[in-house]
This record gives sequence, C-alpha cells and structure tokens, in this order.
Amino acid sequence: MSLPPILSRLRLPVIGSPMFIVSGPDLVIAQCKAGIVGSFPALNAREKDGEPIQLDAWLTRITEELDRHNQANPDNPAAPFAVNQIVHRSNARLERDLEICVRHKVPLWITSLGARPEVNEAAHSVGGVVFHDIINNTFARKAIEKGADGLIAVAAGAGGHAGMQSPFALLQEIRGWFDGPVALSGAIATGRAILAARAAGADLAYIGSPFIATEEANAQPEYKQMICDSGAEDIVYSSLFTGVHGNYLKQSIRNSGLDPDQLEHADASSMNFGQGSSKPKAWSSIWGAGQGIGAISEVRPARAFIDQLGEEYAAARSALA
Ligand SMILES: Cc1cc2nc3c(=O)[nH]c(=O)nc-3n(C[C@H](O)[C@H](O)[C@H](O)COP(=O)(O)O)c2cc1C
Repeated sequence: MSLPPILSRLRLPVIGSPMFIVSGPDLVIAQCKAGIVGSFPALNAREKDGEPIQLDAWLTRITEELDRHNQANPDNPAAPFAVNQIVHRSNARLERDLEICVRHKVPLWITSLGARPEVNEAAHSVGGVVFHDIINNTFARKAIEKGADGLIAVAAGAGGHAGMQSPFALLQEIRGWFDGPVALSGAIATGRAILAARAAGADLAYIGSPFIATEEANAQPEYKQMICDSGAEDIVYSSLFTGVHGNYLKQSIRNSGLDPDQLEHADASSMNFGQGSSKPKAWSSIWGAGQGIGAISEVRPARAFIDQLGEEYAAARSALA
C-alpha cells in the first residue's frame, strides 16, 4: 500500500472531513497548519447575486495562508487541503466549481454522491488526487472504474450521510481487490481509533463530528455544546431530513418539536443540491453528528484537539508494540 506523495508526510494519518455549513477556511487552515488534511464542501462558499465568487476568494485565502505558513516553518509544513464536490445531478454549480478548483490547482478532491469520470479528469489535469466516498463495495468498485484514485469508506456511525455497514466488513471487502489509498469514516474521535482504522486496513482516518466542537467551526454555540454533552445513544439514523439516511443529534430533533424515535421516512428523490444544500429550510436546526462524539467534552481550538489525537495515537502505538 502506498499513499500518493501529497499524503505520505502527514503529521497524523487523518483527513478532517468536509461538513455542510460547518467547514470553512478558518477550520481548514487550522487543520492543515496542525498537520492533518483540512477540507470543505465547495457548496459552503456562497455569494449573493452580483457579489464576487466566494469559492475563488476562499481558495485564494487558504492557499496564501498555507504558503505563508510554509515559508515561515520549513521544518513543519502544512498538510494539503481538499475540496469536496457533491457530484449529484441537482448540483447546478458543479461545472463552475470544477473550473475554479482547476484554476487553483486544488491538491485533493473529495467527491460524493455519484462518481463521474469528467470530475476525475478535471482533477488529474492539474495533478490533483481524487478520493470518492462510498458506503458499500459495489459503489467502491464503480468509483475506481470511473477513475478515482482512492476511496473513503463511510461506515456505520458516521456523521452526515452515513453507511450501514460495520467498518470491519466494509474494509475487508474493499481490501479484497483494492490496494490503493483508503480512508475510513465513521465515529473516529481518538488516537486509539485512528490506529484501529489503520490496523483494520485503512491508510487514513476521516474525522468530522469532533471538529464541530472547535472554535474555528462555523456552528452555533448551542450545536457545539450539544456535541460536548452527547454520546452514541443520543444519535438517530433517519432519512427524513434529506431523503438519504444520515445520523443526527436526537436533542436537536426534539427541539424542533419532533420525536426522534418516531420519524417518518423520506425517499432519495427529495434530494436537491440546486440551492447549495439538500436540506429544506424547515430542517435548518436539525444538527448532524456521528456516534463518536462521546469522546468530546469541551469546545477547543482545532489544534488542541489534533495535538491530543497525536499524543493518544503515539501512546496507543507503544501500548500495542
Ligand atoms: C454536520 C455534518 C455535515 C456533513 N456534510 C458533508 C458534506 O457536505 N459532504 C460530505 O461529503 N460529507 C459530509 N459529512 C460527512 C463527513 O464528511 C464524514 O463522512 C463524517 O463526518 C465522518 O464521521 P464522523 O462525523 O463520525 O467523524 C457531514 C458530516 C456532518 C457531521
């Protein structure tokens, strides 16, 4: 197994995963400077009609700040960053956003909801590496056939649109035929869990929800606090809010007047990324989170959490050695 050169010198084998609304330049820059890949969904960068294009501005800021960091810290360079593209037919911005990412030579591209060869070709045209996220082995094969370089195995317990399979089952089937780079997603929140992901066959851990409770995350204080106060039993898996099954904080559903244990189902035809989101306005106070958040008890700078992961990872390695 060998990682692409841009991912082979990370301080920790971790990608800070893209999160709708929550991930923006502040969080990405903090993650990259602390030595893990930072990422954001392109659709998070939005502008009103007539305003300059936000995605362009965000990419300029991220690139310039990381370049400055690298010049000042040649022995401790920043990790590369990634942009997430929702490759769903309802994403009306896709073509424009791809063109902007090509212009900025984005180093790592994360694609979700439908693998498309032309997206991979756009990334490869500027030396970019593409990871596609999948929830089962069939989608994994399709993604690689269509030209993705690596996979993100989204297992049960992940925040956002999670899968249903055990990470052991999912990784074991993928590793039966694929020896390229694989990141594992779902409820990873400690250094010990990062090591476990690698032992189970992943190269990298893909971590989202814990970063909601960081100072740099674009989330309401109440959302950050709910992450700190909740554990796996406080998460419910439902299709109601976007048409695709995902994991959500039960308390945010109660606060919206619904019973999280009695939710109806919705079908995938209700997914719509035309307005930059698949979430109707009525659901804007329903908050996503994965099952790993029991490990999180305070809101901190992203770097403090990443430093802790680093210490825990080293301790877990020596405990098992
Ligand atoms: C609030 C929230 C929003 C998310 N939005 C996106 C998104 O826009 N695009 C995407 O590819 N994944 C999205 N995800 C999924 C994450 O990228 C990742 O798979 C997940 O957070 C990993 O599981 P964890 O949260 O248990 O660490 C989201 C997750 C959360 C919690």
